[in-house]
Amino acid sequence: MIDEKTVKECFEKQFGTDRCSIFTSPGRINLIGEHTDYNLGFVLPASIDKCITVAIRTNKTSIVNAYSLDYKEMVTFDIDGEKPKQLWACYIYGVIQEMKKRGGLVGGFNAVFGGDVPLGAGMSSSAALESAFATAINDKFGLWFSKRDLAKIGQMTEHNYVGVRCGIMDQFASLFGKAGKVIRLDCRSLEYDYVPFNPKGIKLVLIDTKVKHSLASSEYNVRREQCEAGVSVVASHKKKIESLRDITIALLNKYKDEMEPIVYKRCAYVINENQRLLDGCAALSKGDYELFGQKMFGSHDGLSKEYEVSCKELDFIVDIAKKTKGVLGARMMGGGFGGCVISMVKDEVYKPYIADVIKKYKKEFNIEPRIIDVVIADGAKKWLAKKELTA
Ligand code: GLA
Repeated sequence: MIDEKTVKECFEKQFGTDRCSIFTSPGRINLIGEHTDYNLGFVLPASIDKCITVAIRTNKTSIVNAYSLDYKEMVTFDIDGEKPKQLWACYIYGVIQEMKKRGGLVGGFNAVFGGDVPLGAGMSSSAALESAFATAINDKFGLWFSKRDLAKIGQMTEHNYVGVRCGIMDQFASLFGKAGKVIRLDCRSLEYDYVPFNPKGIKLVLIDTKVKHSLASSEYNVRREQCEAGVSVVASHKKKIESLRDITIALLNKYKDEMEPIVYKRCAYVINENQRLLDGCAALSKGDYELFGQKMFGSHDGLSKEYEVSCKELDFIVDIAKKTKGVLGARMMGGGFGGCVISMVKDEVYKPYIADVIKKYKKEFNIEPRIIDVVIADGAKKWLAKKELTA
């Protein structure tokens, strides 16, 4: 396990001193509201107990020396120079450039980072990395960017230095998360509230298909373009239409014939998913987890059949969940094309359900799925060292 101690020890090994500050930023889950963020709808994520940890110390130059514990690799770049070749280093470089664009006076630093957010599993390891460095750099250079600014800096890093036109959900969740609460975020206004989520006798569990998704490999951006195509058809008839958030199903249907069938299908999914989230939140506020679970299954169906971002491995697990009494809801989570299924399960069926999924999944795909228990934990933070008192 890579924790603060490991990261600090590695910092000392790499840079010859243990004088550094430690920052962490977590991965996230999302209960419902998938592919709604960049359509300016709602999402319902939460930060979890799996983080990226950064040890950092400024070095009074314009050079960044960053060591990745996972890749066991040091990358050196000038903050005013070219983008590094290694993808993982582009996230750090991108955060710095986005801060500079906004007037942040960033300098060079030495850093080591690592963590336990599974990579490519739809739990936002990249947002955790961006948010950890954004929080660290903001603090070390006294930049005073707000957490909302830091979330946008992370999002724009993906757009401009990694090539994924993602929404703001992942970075927002990593920065704003609170233990025991999910965040109902309005991605248009960036207003949010915390909804308590600690149902008695119910567990959340992630099942990793181990199919690696690759958002950057185009399909994510294609979905975004299809949504934009639908919006522009409606906007050509009506004023003040800026996103799918401004479009009801009735309005979409009115101009259905002017859209490619695939564009209609994608847009209808997003509009319905937004409504599912709102209905799901109403159910949560009444403590109706059964109804919330039904919305999760509905979300998966839409993602699989209308938005077409699922895959056979994800569908296979959700099918088992649907047939298991006591599994209240399950769906693919994140961008899609692999990664995890999130399930909401009654305590008494947790063990048999997991055992059944492992057995059947192994038989079908010859892969052992990874079971990841998650706890909803706090968002990004600076670790304040407990100082030894000396005489
Ligand atoms: C990825 C993106 C998010 C969001 C989800 C899908 O995680 O980074 O912005 O669009 O996919 O909901």
